[in-house]
Amino acid sequence: MSTKDLTLKASLTSKSEEETMQCARGFAARLKAGDIVFLQGQLGAGKTTFVKGLVQAFKLSPKKVSSPTFVLMNCYEGRLPIYHFDLYRLENPQTLDTVDFDDYFYGEGISLIEWPERLGGYAPEHYYLVEFQHQGEQQRKICISCPSKPRLKSSPSR
Ligand SMILES: Nc1ncnc2c1ncn2[C@@H]1O[C@H](COP(=O)(O)OP(=O)(O)OP(=O)(O)O)[C@@H](O)[C@H]1O
Ligand SMILES: [Mg+2]
Repeated sequence: MSTKDLTLKASLTSKSEEETMQCARGFAARLKAGDIVFLQGQLGAGKTTFVKGLVQAFKLSPKKVSSPTFVLMNCYEGRLPIYHFDLYRLENPQTLDTVDFDDYFYGEGISLIEWPERLGGYAPEHYYLVEFQHQGEQQRKICISCPSKPRLKSSPSR
């Protein structure tokens, strides 16, 4: 999916980690099984903080959230399984060949992906995009875009 298939839904300013988590909790209300969220922004922009807020919304402790360091993905079992990918440390793109993305992307859980640019050809067609921009030490701009068209329920949309 190119950015033309996304519609900007919200653009807001967060002035603290807690505000970023609150924003994520609000966004979580939109999400359902099989949804995929791309989290884009520079190092320290707030992507993992946003994941903590999302995880809270699914009735899990945000303390469970840590960026996967030695693996590409952590799974948190809440009301739904949440698959938290962090592709920053992906050294060899061929590692992705060993991941069965269909199980995650078209399954019963929600996929949250930091550094989605690194998915290359494995990028799904249908995703939400949350963009983070530094605006000083404590301030971040957060833009949330949603797919313009609804996802087909029964089959992968690609
Ligand atoms: N408004 C804010 N929202 C989110 N984090 C903030 C904010 N202000 C300051 N911070 C700080 O910025 C850092 C954000 O870290 P976080 O791990 O969420 O970033 P990240 O985008 O996941 O980075 P990485 O690419 O390294 O995984 C934390 O240290 C947090 O305390
Ligand atoms: Mg992170």
